[in-house]
Amino acid sequence: MLVAPSMLASDFAHLADELKKITEGGADYVHLDVMDGLFVPNLSFGAPVIGAMRPHTNLPFDVHLMIQHPKRYIADFAAAGADIISFHVECEDDPEETIQEILAHGVKPAMVLKPNTPAEKLFPYLDKLYMVLLMTVEPGFGGQSFMPEPLQKARVLKDKNPSILIEADGGINASTILDCARAGVDICVAGTGVFKAKDPAEAIRQLQAAGR
Ligand code: DX5
Ligand code: ZN
Repeated sequence: MLVAPSMLASDFAHLADELKKITEGGADYVHLDVMDGLFVPNLSFGAPVIGAMRPHTNLPFDVHLMIQHPKRYIADFAAAGADIISFHVECEDDPEETIQEILAHGVKPAMVLKPNTPAEKLFPYLDKLYMVLLMTVEPGFGGQSFMPEPLQKARVLKDKNPSILIEADGGINASTILDCARAGVDICVAGTGVFKAKDPAEAIRQLQAAGR
């Protein structure tokens, strides 16, 4: 299992140190949660903060856009150093145009499903996507309880496109990771599970070991 610690649960006053901690701790990606206060009832950080983090690690940046209108900001997130940009199928922009905008900036496109959005919504776009992110909590806040049901979508999506990567996000820790591994998830996001652990490096190792 690949692990993407979510910076949402890190100490925002010491982002460089937090990035060093997970880089030395062996993380596979850095997950960056962008919220606009409209698509979700919370605000987090945007492209300038992500750009400021970029020089402090060589890990790929996995940028999760929980915003109503992602398309107009793709250029900013690409310039800030995003390697993967994921946007919600439930947003208000045209998915096809948004995917093309991401590709035009040399970034890997991904789409996200809220817990109750069916996998079928992504069928028209699957052959163009690098990854699908399955939310295992309602997006907007860290530290919520994990829902296992959305993970059933992993098999449905892999049947349609066997090369698609599946990421799961929300409430993932040393116990809920087992459901993710069983469901065929490739990458797990963990905010609280990594940054609030006594030993974040050990927490990363434990999550990576699941499903091996
Ligand atoms: C929720 C975010 C998640 C969040 C996960 O809207 O998309 O990435 O940071 O946090 P935990 O692991 O604490 O549930
Ligand atoms: Zn996220």
